[in-house]
Amino acid sequence: MITIEDLNGRLLAAEYAVRGPIVIRAQQLEEQGRKIIYCNIGNPQALKQKPLTFLRQVLSLMEYPELLEKSDLLKHYSRDLVERVRQVLERHPHGTGAYTQSTGIPFIRQAVAEFIQTRDGIPSSKDRVILTDGASKGAQGVLVALLKNVNDGFMIPIPQYPLYSASLTLYGGKQIGYFLDEQNSWQLNEGILTDSIIKAKSKGVNPVGIVVINPGNPTGAVLSYDNIKMIVEFARRNSLSVIADEVYQENVYDHRAKFHSFARVMHDMDETGVTLFSLHSVSKGFLGECGHRGGYLEFRNVPDNVVAQFVKLQSISLCANVSGQLATYLMVSPPKQGEESYETYIRERNEVLSSLKKRAEILGKGVNQIPGMSVDIPQGAMYAFVKIELPPDKDVDITVMSPEELSAYNARRDSDYCMRLLEETGICVVPGSGFGQLPGTLHFRTTFLPPVSEIEEFVVKLKQFHEHYAKVEALAS
Ligand SMILES: Cc1ncc(COP(=O)(O)O)c(C=O)c1O
Repeated sequence: MITIEDLNGRLLAAEYAVRGPIVIRAQQLEEQGRKIIYCNIGNPQALKQKPLTFLRQVLSLMEYPELLEKSDLLKHYSRDLVERVRQVLERHPHGTGAYTQSTGIPFIRQAVAEFIQTRDGIPSSKDRVILTDGASKGAQGVLVALLKNVNDGFMIPIPQYPLYSASLTLYGGKQIGYFLDEQNSWQLNEGILTDSIIKAKSKGVNPVGIVVINPGNPTGAVLSYDNIKMIVEFARRNSLSVIADEVYQENVYDHRAKFHSFARVMHDMDETGVTLFSLHSVSKGFLGECGHRGGYLEFRNVPDNVVAQFVKLQSISLCANVSGQLATYLMVSPPKQGEESYETYIRERNEVLSSLKKRAEILGKGVNQIPGMSVDIPQGAMYAFVKIELPPDKDVDITVMSPEELSAYNARRDSDYCMRLLEETGICVVPGSGFGQLPGTLHFRTTFLPPVSEIEEFVVKLKQFHEHYAKVEALAS
């Protein structure tokens, strides 16, 4: 029998806090009958968000096309929807049970290209689009393809979504963390980017790319147009490829904020030298179809022979799952105005988005009223990165700690805090150290996905807990 020592050390070293020890403990408590408010992961349908009727109805007919022959079909499905399924089956007669082309079903890639054209008013080609099993697989493909030497590294935000740090550890790439500017609504800061790349190079690391998550996870921030422009210029000056993780592009709640795609900004800048990989997904937005594992990767400024290598990479695992490909098609090609399904689609979409906006505000405003806590009311995405202040530990002198010791100490403190929060209140959040944070600061990440009543309960319980916790810590210090 193999033992843990036989496993790949890189797998052992990879960390993924979103499903870490606190979540495992939450599941144990739930099995013991405790009510848990799961705020640890952006998994909307696990938190009672309803799937969109249009998407599920199309998928149901695609999975079981015999239903199309039923005489009472139009009692259950609208006419345009049935027509849509017939068209899909005509263009893709093998249905959902057969492998597709490695890059995905061609007409779906075409629909993705048209979606980008319409969204941004810029050209896009289906031959620069690959359909993936969620955005995660697209991101991992880029990392695998670009990490050529052991010292190659990617700039990744701190705090960041741990897909990037964990995958870099797994594939043997170097992490070049850059802090997001919490004082400036979590935008990227040119000075911080420059310092971080200089520091990495001085340690022999070769930066090959920069990951940008917009709207942000875990910050909930939406990047301004000028901020994206600055990042593209920075990437050009430093010969970096850009991975633009844009899975939350539909999740913008603050009317003062607007989603700008990297593709559009680069087009406006006439940028032809910086390679762009942009990611999108069916998991987020208002679909929340995390389980269907659908998404796409679009390339810009990439030569044909490089695209061919990505196609080969994709072909090694044959193709993305077909219902995920179809879900991606329905995301980029929703019902049109005038079609029977349109009204329901728009109503359901608006309900999801306005409820998310409401929940973001309740959470943000509620947290900001708790002494010792602060947060930017999330402008977008599904998360808030809450800053917490705790009294100093009397037995610990942080001024003599190295940066590594300080970050290990902070990781213990925020993990203890989140574990106690779970044990005492049933609220499950993720310690800030799981995403990275400025040394000396403490945070936790929470989603605002549970229903409104639970978000209200969350705020009340959090306040009681924090006051008590901070008091006990103060007595001990
Ligand atoms: C920033 C970001 N990128 C990618 C993903 C993964 O998306 P997918 O489900 O499409 O793999 C997530 C999931 O939470 C995310 O937050």
